[in-house]
Amino acid sequence: MAANKREKFGGRLAVILAMAGSAIGLGNIWRFPYMVGEHGGAAFVVVYVIATLLISLPVFLSEVMVGRRSHTNARDAFARLSRHHPFWKGAGYLTIVIPTLIACYYSVIGGWSVEYFLKSCSAAFIHTTPEGASALFGSFVSDTWTPVLMHLLFLGLTVLVVAGGVKSGIEKFSKVTLPVLFVLILVILVYSVSLPGAGEGVRYLLHPDWSELTPRTFAYAMGQSFYSLSLGMGAIITYGSYVSKKENILVTSAGTAVSDLLFAIMAGFAIMPAVFAAGIEPGAGPGLIFQSIPYVFAKMGVDLPVLSSLVAVIFFLSIIVAAMTSCISLVEVGVSFLMERAGMTRVRACLLLYLICGGLGTLCSLSFGPLADVRVAGMSIFDLFDWVCSNILLLLMGLLVVIFVGWILPRRVVHDEFTNRGSIAFNDRIFPVFWFLIKWVAPIAVLIIFFTNFIL
Ligand code: PHE
Repeated sequence: MAANKREKFGGRLAVILAMAGSAIGLGNIWRFPYMVGEHGGAAFVVVYVIATLLISLPVFLSEVMVGRRSHTNARDAFARLSRHHPFWKGAGYLTIVIPTLIACYYSVIGGWSVEYFLKSCSAAFIHTTPEGASALFGSFVSDTWTPVLMHLLFLGLTVLVVAGGVKSGIEKFSKVTLPVLFVLILVILVYSVSLPGAGEGVRYLLHPDWSELTPRTFAYAMGQSFYSLSLGMGAIITYGSYVSKKENILVTSAGTAVSDLLFAIMAGFAIMPAVFAAGIEPGAGPGLIFQSIPYVFAKMGVDLPVLSSLVAVIFFLSIIVAAMTSCISLVEVGVSFLMERAGMTRVRACLLLYLICGGLGTLCSLSFGPLADVRVAGMSIFDLFDWVCSNILLLLMGLLVVIFVGWILPRRVVHDEFTNRGSIAFNDRIFPVFWFLIKWVAPIAVLIIFFTNFIL
């Protein structure tokens, strides 16, 4: 969209819904629960909540400000606001690389969702036992070609939507599926908590064992928080550029952060009790949700077989849509870059990205099967991609954003943006707190956490 005729969001609810649409995705439903299980249970949750409110929310506000002030996409925003300083121009390019790398492995999990959707359509699916659910996942994921095919299928569909320019169609669709997903997670939560042995899972989420708190917990909680809020990759900067000058960005940002947080916590309570009830190891990794959720459907199926099948099918379908809307926005960044800067047609740009993400994603997918033994710094290829993106690149970009807002932009400009030129009294009153968080707390915390990653 040309900078001089950028669309604006309709109103406050529209802004929150669009931002929450980007934020809520596999990050909340798939990634959050397994991060909790791998990095310290309730202690991780506590750190995650504090990090979100104290660090990610100010970073979120900063990204919205950069977008709204510059009125352009993420890559050009820094250049424009820094009067084309070469360093900031260069930093803008990170916002192209990061989403493209994330799309590679995000689409692998998208592929798993497609496979589980297909599985959930068969009657046998809701008759699984805990062991059956784990075995089902094990045999699917270690198989060489099915997951790769599903990944390529999911990515192909995503790229087709981007190539056809019918993005807004699927985004409208997601406005329906997101609330549906919310309700279904609530239904699953109720069932999951009532399973025999589920109490242990609830305790696991509510009673922090502080001995589990390590530097690693902080590093991964911060990474998860950025990932979940779509921070550090230009997405929120771009959304910010569509926000009207009249909007109170504190309200919209806090609204988005809180709904994203709630969604993640709910997913945690839907999945962890089932994990314990089914006797699955909480640290089982990326497959956690796919191993535990079928067990909930199986239990539900004993009482209400038809309803259970229906819930399972709609649940996986909504996950596919949530994953696809996120993946569309990840791919779109690279596509619009290739079109604007390399003069490619939309179709060619889509094809190139399909090849890049399809190729690298295939390696990620194979790392659960035939390439499981390939380890880099002790990590599988999939984990390496995820770690480099979430723990390194997102934090790096987030750090650059807060340095930009806290140290490069004049305080007057930031104050203007935060308070709409002093017209919102409440924001004016708490501006010093925001300024302190952005200038000192966020950069120092993110810097320390960033380096923690290398000494673990
Ligand atoms: N925040 C999304 C999630 O939680 C991931 C994402 C990041 C999607 C950035 C789009 C852009 O799944």
